[in-house]
Amino acid sequence: MIDTRISRRAALMGAGAVAAWLASPARALLQVAGRVAVPPFVDPLMGRMTLEEKAGQLSLMASAWGGGVATALNPPSNGPDFQQQVEEARLGQLTGVFNGNGARMARIMQTAVMNGSRLKIPLIFAADIIHGHRTVFPVPLAEVSSFEPELARRTAAAAAFEASGAGIDWTFSPMVDVARDQRWGRGVEGGGEDVLLGELFAAARVRGFQGENVASNEHLMACVKHFAAYGAGESGLDYNVVDMSDRRLREVYLPTYKAAFDAGALSGMASFNEINGVPSTGNRWLQTELLRGEWGFQGFMVSDYTGDEEMIAAGYARDGRDAARLAFLAGVDMSMQSGLYRKYLPDLVRSGAVPVGMLDQSVRRVLAVKAMLGLFEDPFRRIDEKREQSRSLLPATRALARESGRKSIVLLKNDGDLLPLPKSGKTIALIGPFASGKHDLIGPWCVYGDDAKAVDLETGVRNAIGGKGKVVVAEGSGVEEPIKGGIAKAVAAARAADIIVLAIGESQGMSGEAQSRTEIVVPEPQQKLAEAVAATGKPVVVVLKHGRALALHGAVANAQAILATWFLGTETGNAIADVLFGDYGPSGRLPASFPRESGQEPYYYAHKSTGRPNPDGPLEPYKAHFRGVPNSALYPFGHGLTYGKIEYGGLMLGAPAMGMNGSLTVAARVTNRGRRAAEEVAQFYIHDRTASITQPVRKLIAFRKVALGPGQSEVVQFTLRAADLAFLGVNDRPTVEPGTFDVWIAPSAESDGVHGSFELTA
Ligand code: BGC
Repeated sequence: MIDTRISRRAALMGAGAVAAWLASPARALLQVAGRVAVPPFVDPLMGRMTLEEKAGQLSLMASAWGGGVATALNPPSNGPDFQQQVEEARLGQLTGVFNGNGARMARIMQTAVMNGSRLKIPLIFAADIIHGHRTVFPVPLAEVSSFEPELARRTAAAAAFEASGAGIDWTFSPMVDVARDQRWGRGVEGGGEDVLLGELFAAARVRGFQGENVASNEHLMACVKHFAAYGAGESGLDYNVVDMSDRRLREVYLPTYKAAFDAGALSGMASFNEINGVPSTGNRWLQTELLRGEWGFQGFMVSDYTGDEEMIAAGYARDGRDAARLAFLAGVDMSMQSGLYRKYLPDLVRSGAVPVGMLDQSVRRVLAVKAMLGLFEDPFRRIDEKREQSRSLLPATRALARESGRKSIVLLKNDGDLLPLPKSGKTIALIGPFASGKHDLIGPWCVYGDDAKAVDLETGVRNAIGGKGKVVVAEGSGVEEPIKGGIAKAVAAARAADIIVLAIGESQGMSGEAQSRTEIVVPEPQQKLAEAVAATGKPVVVVLKHGRALALHGAVANAQAILATWFLGTETGNAIADVLFGDYGPSGRLPASFPRESGQEPYYYAHKSTGRPNPDGPLEPYKAHFRGVPNSALYPFGHGLTYGKIEYGGLMLGAPAMGMNGSLTVAARVTNRGRRAAEEVAQFYIHDRTASITQPVRKLIAFRKVALGPGQSEVVQFTLRAADLAFLGVNDRPTVEPGTFDVWIAPSAESDGVHGSFELTA
């Protein structure tokens, strides 16, 4: 650990000097580097703490005043009542609480501690601010479709602004688990299947939450989760085991966490899963050797909700005491919700099973981070009931939610240019369980958002067309249950209309924690509804709601137009209407491949080739594919259409060969031959044809978003260096080998775009 303690002279600083330090460029530099300064008062303070008080600083509990939603998000716990919890805080048995209920609650608790506790160590208030606080932004996976990390920085900053007004110091976000199996329900919280995109969004979100000065009352601390490889659970089953090579772990699953820590995140959360037989929570290699030793992380790690205790059921810890010992010795500084640390750590230290130096180290980290957050200077800096109201759902924040919403929408298909729809002169039938009504708008993992404050699709469509067009609405089906007579009414509405907008897909409860699915399809009653309305012969636009990539079939897959809209939050209806009627041209690209069938999962574009790939064209016997199903995506990673007509000109390679120390320019002309403006995401992929470790068929190494008016064109150019071609070699070191490389500049991971090859010479 690089110890950046403040000097002895600084130890004599008073409160004013602490404030100056918080605002100083030196502190900001430390934060940006993810370093933690240990203020001089910390060790003397620790000298006055009992073992019980130290264990208290390492114990985080769910708020006893959490409200219905917060409790619904986690397994029901038999926590104390609020008064009892306030008393625990006063007695120093708690470091803070999470998913509580706003500034008033925080004020009551913090006041009790500052007035009534022995050492007056401020509490920290945490919450799952995953995609917005009161203003709800698109779910994280949706937002990655924008291919615009800066957008994620802005929405994270806006979420921090609202939440820090409501007494929240710390968000359990970003979730950066790479997710390559769409059956898993929690992919919705993360960055999708790709490493590069995941890294960029992870870093951007950390920067957005923490800002340049995490001590400011407009920012809060990020928590990188779930460390590590939580997205790789076997068969996509939540909480399931992970067994994988170190190479894959390092090349695919670890880089996103590293990017988030490198961006300065001051805390991280251990994951529920085991890796190669050892639960992450008890994994010393992961939590200490790699994270602190190799990566130089200086903040603190918290377990996930009862993650330490769960090592008993997992067959790794004998009992609660053993679980506390194993988690703590592994490097998990703080325990969430099980209460095991405060119950067992004091005695584990007394008995010598846990060195007191380690306990002090963790307490020092927690206190130093509380100081970085400005809590010692002013424990109430984020607790302000007036700010809580005055910052909530501001027009500018809602406008950002709408911007982010429309940039998150992906146009999968648009046969015959059915979209955009005309605003006048037509009757539109809005059909399906998500056509109307204030439900399933804010999306999964949202503690403080409110569907009632969000705009549904019908309202968005009516806002867009004003009095000019006609809209009829029919629910047709429930999400997973049919509605009696629903299909007949929907068909009647479809017959009377010119265009059908079919709003179907998953409810928000179908993705998120513990919501893995075996079949990632549109539920059967809705599929039947789709078949029935499609049979009317009217043009159909499918507007999908979903927390994962889906396998689309029948009338859904065959609709003339399909929009992937995920869960867009507060401005759902307006954002979709912006795209439906062409006020905004769709610019999103898929962050996760839509497979042809559920059984292809885990499906991801950066897979490796077998020795028997099926050549382009018909399926051949004894080649790598499932029975009757090509081994490709229906809509691959990176896919997304525009309202323009994008063409890629020939590939321009700076040279046919490049040396180890050289560079190579790779460029292509991208033209919009359409009549409408378009934003294209030109994606740069490489493939190493032959290597001492086989390489993926393609790997994204850069991308660029270009805005093109009708008839406009632009040369998109990338510069390649040997380091871009590195992989982890046989000795687990970054390795670059001479040979032939393919390059593509393409509109998706499985389209040709423009393609060429070059030699890397020794
Ligand atoms: C989830 C975490 C979350 C925590 C606190 C757990 O069940 O896995 O992602 O931050 O609960 O709500």
